[in-house]
Amino acid sequence: MCGIVGYIGSENAAPVLHRALTRLEYRGYDSAGIATVFNGRVFVKKDSGRIEEIHKRLNLDDMPGGVGIAHTRWATHGGPSQANAHPHLDCSNSIAVVHNGVIENFLQLRKELTELNHVFKSKTDTEVIVHLVEEYHVRQGKPLLEAFLTALERIQGSYAVALISSNAAREILVARNDAPLAIGVGDGFNFISSDVTAFIEKTKRAVFLQNGEAAVVRADGYDIIKLATRGAVARKPVTLLWDIEMAEKHGYPHFTLKEIHEQPEALRNALRLQNIYVDLLTELLDRGRDIFLLGAGTSYHACLAGSYLFSKIARVATYPVVASEFVENYGASVNADTVILAVSQSGETADVLNALEHARLRAATILGITNTVGSTLTRISRAYVLQNSGPEIGVAATKTYTAQVLVLTQLALRLAKLRGKLAQFEMDEFKETLVNIPGIVEVVISRVEKPMREVAEKLVDKDVLLFLGRGVSSSTAAEARLKVMELSYIPCISYSAGESKHGPISIIDKGFPVFFIVPPDDDRKQNIGNIMEMKARGAMIIAVADENDDEVRELSDIFIGMPAVHPLLSPIPYVIPFQFLAYYLAILRGNDPDKPRNLAKSVTVL
Ligand code: M6R
Repeated sequence: MCGIVGYIGSENAAPVLHRALTRLEYRGYDSAGIATVFNGRVFVKKDSGRIEEIHKRLNLDDMPGGVGIAHTRWATHGGPSQANAHPHLDCSNSIAVVHNGVIENFLQLRKELTELNHVFKSKTDTEVIVHLVEEYHVRQGKPLLEAFLTALERIQGSYAVALISSNAAREILVARNDAPLAIGVGDGFNFISSDVTAFIEKTKRAVFLQNGEAAVVRADGYDIIKLATRGAVARKPVTLLWDIEMAEKHGYPHFTLKEIHEQPEALRNALRLQNIYVDLLTELLDRGRDIFLLGAGTSYHACLAGSYLFSKIARVATYPVVASEFVENYGASVNADTVILAVSQSGETADVLNALEHARLRAATILGITNTVGSTLTRISRAYVLQNSGPEIGVAATKTYTAQVLVLTQLALRLAKLRGKLAQFEMDEFKETLVNIPGIVEVVISRVEKPMREVAEKLVDKDVLLFLGRGVSSSTAAEARLKVMELSYIPCISYSAGESKHGPISIIDKGFPVFFIVPPDDDRKQNIGNIMEMKARGAMIIAVADENDDEVRELSDIFIGMPAVHPLLSPIPYVIPFQFLAYYLAILRGNDPDKPRNLAKSVTVL
């Protein structure tokens, strides 16, 4: 996730953009830059680092021109550096582009453009956009707008993109597909931005672009164009009722709630992995004699889910290990045939890095899944995949967890293909399910928030909660336990449901709340047996199960119905009710859900 903003009007654009950028910094903060047009020239200042550091070095306010675009970056392709910072320029330095999103076919386009003698200065996917426009406009002589629209036809992936040109000082061209973009409509000036926080101080009137739309934005108006037909779209501005703080959180009271709601977008981005890296990771995994999946906290739970997925999809056994336990307990078994797949949102968790350092010294192959380009994990991994979730500000991992599980699923699927372990029809069935996951999660979010708030109201004064699931759902139970415990401060227990009769059942008495995670999988029948055992002892049964599972519905005191999903992918939608439960318990108990006590977003001590 990055932030883009543009301004056109009578004020000097650079200071306006600088201020607007600071409002977008929550969308990414590893590098930033501004481009303006003045007197037939494009001016650019950009660098790696946070905006204020860059401003101290370069004075971002001191640039001429009443039109400009700016960017604050959360790296996806190419680490944080001056060259990779946006805006990007074409070879003739007459066109500048900023972009938020992921261009999936950038490698093919880059090759094609390089053969046409375009010179690339960065490692980003974005740079292909500006060279494509250059190709059609500067070299082939198409009008700028037509060149822009033609370039967009060549691009696959997600984008909110803005472009300025020294040949068109009175307009900003923008377009969107699967990344947010709004026009801030003022009197004699207009903004474009990834979100309204950037301009809400200056105007409260906004037009939201839809997927597949472009726009020409001038100081005195805007024209929206439907990309598929190139026809005009009429849309009037709406008036925003938010203040700046509400706008930063998109109207949600907390970042945690915003991030829970962002999961469909984060999952779409997690499906846009770069194939070459996924293939490389898969090949290296395939060579491992022992494969460890390593993580801490929520990332460990993703590993736990991953171990079931690798086993059931690819028929490959892996060891999920809590990072802090690795060196002393498994370290001696590590050698050159060992592969460690480390999962870490931040890529900086000390327990993970400590384990990896040990493994590195013993010549193991280190692989990574992370959300943070340029993190230590990316530097020490032989190969890594970026989950593309954008910054997560709430201390509790929400959108990054479901994205990690989706990345692990794709790796398991790729490994299954490589080893010939899945029949074609199974492969097709899975792929279809993967593509549907963001939509399923959208349905779950819209459906479960209210009932889970009501569950939270019922349970707010309980002393302890129990979470049970079987198979891959035991990882969902563990993650539910962690989430609810860290935000509500209520002690929680989770177990594999089959283990409940081997001890935990002794704590059950009348009204004791027991959550069951019961997707319609091979374990369902046995789960029902466990529900009956708990019920017989007076437990309050709260089941998260398929919406058509009438048997479980009958047995439950509270039933949360879920839409149909492939059972192996259930960890993604089935964890969402518990994220809401954790959030609302925190609110009801007066805790700050964004900053739970005693915790840090990234734990960089052993
Ligand atoms: O950055 P990482 O994924 O390595 O972080 C690991 C844990 O510290 C993290 O998941 C932590 O457990 C979260 N607070 C859970 O919500």
